[in-house]
Amino acid sequence: MDGGINPGPVERNDSGTLEDGDLSTSLDSIPTDDNKNSVSLLFSTKDEVGALADCFQVFKKHKVNLSHIEYSQCKNGKGNYDFFMNCESRHSTTFETMMDELRTFTTKLKIITDDSAEGKPGPVPWFPRKLSELDKFATKILSYGSELNSDHPGFTDSVYRVRRKEFADIAFNYKHGDVIPRVTYTPEEIQTWTTIYDKLTSLYPTHACREFNHIFQLLKEKCGYRRDNIPQLEDVSKFLQDRSGFRIRPVAGLLSPRDFLSGLANRVIHATQYIRHSSKPMYTPEPDVCHELIGHVPLLADPSFARFSQEIGMASLGAPEEYIKKLSTCYWFTVEFGLCRQDGEIKAFGAGLLSSFGELQYCLSDKAVVKEFEPSKTAEQEYPLSEFQPVYFVSASFEEAKDKIRAYADTIPRPFSVMYNPYIQSVELINTHSQLLNLTRAMKGDMNLLEDALKKVGKSRTVNSE
Ligand SMILES: [Fe+2]
Repeated sequence: MDGGINPGPVERNDSGTLEDGDLSTSLDSIPTDDNKNSVSLLFSTKDEVGALADCFQVFKKHKVNLSHIEYSQCKNGKGNYDFFMNCESRHSTTFETMMDELRTFTTKLKIITDDSAEGKPGPVPWFPRKLSELDKFATKILSYGSELNSDHPGFTDSVYRVRRKEFADIAFNYKHGDVIPRVTYTPEEIQTWTTIYDKLTSLYPTHACREFNHIFQLLKEKCGYRRDNIPQLEDVSKFLQDRSGFRIRPVAGLLSPRDFLSGLANRVIHATQYIRHSSKPMYTPEPDVCHELIGHVPLLADPSFARFSQEIGMASLGAPEEYIKKLSTCYWFTVEFGLCRQDGEIKAFGAGLLSSFGELQYCLSDKAVVKEFEPSKTAEQEYPLSEFQPVYFVSASFEEAKDKIRAYADTIPRPFSVMYNPYIQSVELINTHSQLLNLTRAMKGDMNLLEDALKKVGKSRTVNSE
């Protein structure tokens, strides 16, 4: 959860303990029933006492179950909230009447369920299919600005809380296509970065995988990665786009796992821009710019790793809730805490490891338990939030891990297949005969191209060898 996934990208302190971990955004979760109709609603409560209670009365009156609720404070500062809810009913006509009544107590009310997936509102959760649609859940976050838990290192620091609000405002107001605003980091913030940068970079030659070390050098040359400089998200995002097609989107807080994973499907990593509190430079209870820039960015610039990350995201699109949890766990044990084999040694590639001085050493020590990455088994692995990981999963390569995730995705019950169209940067559903024909034609074209290229390469080799 760099910017997001739940359970979040959590960094441990050097003793291996975690000082905060309850990052759940979900208030309620009820198992879904395939016989029910469902819609996803987005609305704001009116600035009136009891407005939310009135909304719940409407749901109750129409016998509509709420299977998922998320909320965040409106940015207008008046104390009312934005809500995102998944609603279920046995009668599709219920929703029309219910919406009319809800308008009495809400503003900005709209249904955002994707009707086209099945031709009508159905049990398939909505998901973004193109970059601009990520704007729809940009404000669906757990906390906003200066809202910190009481045990957060910056909780009693009013200056830090104001600063956090500034960063949150940047992300909250960001829309697809905008340039990510540049930030002038303070000397205190840069000193925090320097402390972390120095300690972590001392371990990379021996602990990080070769792809990470290769790209980290490029980031030093092209994006201002230095011990005395915190790189700008906009610069790094452009670098990523050139290298792997991924891009950065600033986020104001924690997204739900489903939303975060759907960002990956669209080749977007949601990233925070603020830095942890200076009193504890080697600890943060939440993802910060150090975790994003040092932990995540290098490997997202590797095309093979980027495809693996996107594959997890693609598997999540429209998946039932229980599979979102499984995929989040696979994400956790790979993108955040994954290991790989290289030249007979085990190296780290997970961002949670590469941004944690203590755990990066621990995961490659004799004390760590290491198993083979196998999505169906890894997805069931429990992990405590207050200690180092009880087990780490190792992959032979990113390509192998991607193939395994793709095979695992085939077991997820969905009434359609998905593919990414890089030409128009969008996710396409494959669920009709005509779409299959189009896909077949496109594949034939690719095969012809491949055949032609192989012939030319063959001729070239023959000429060179003569
Ligand atoms: Fe992360």
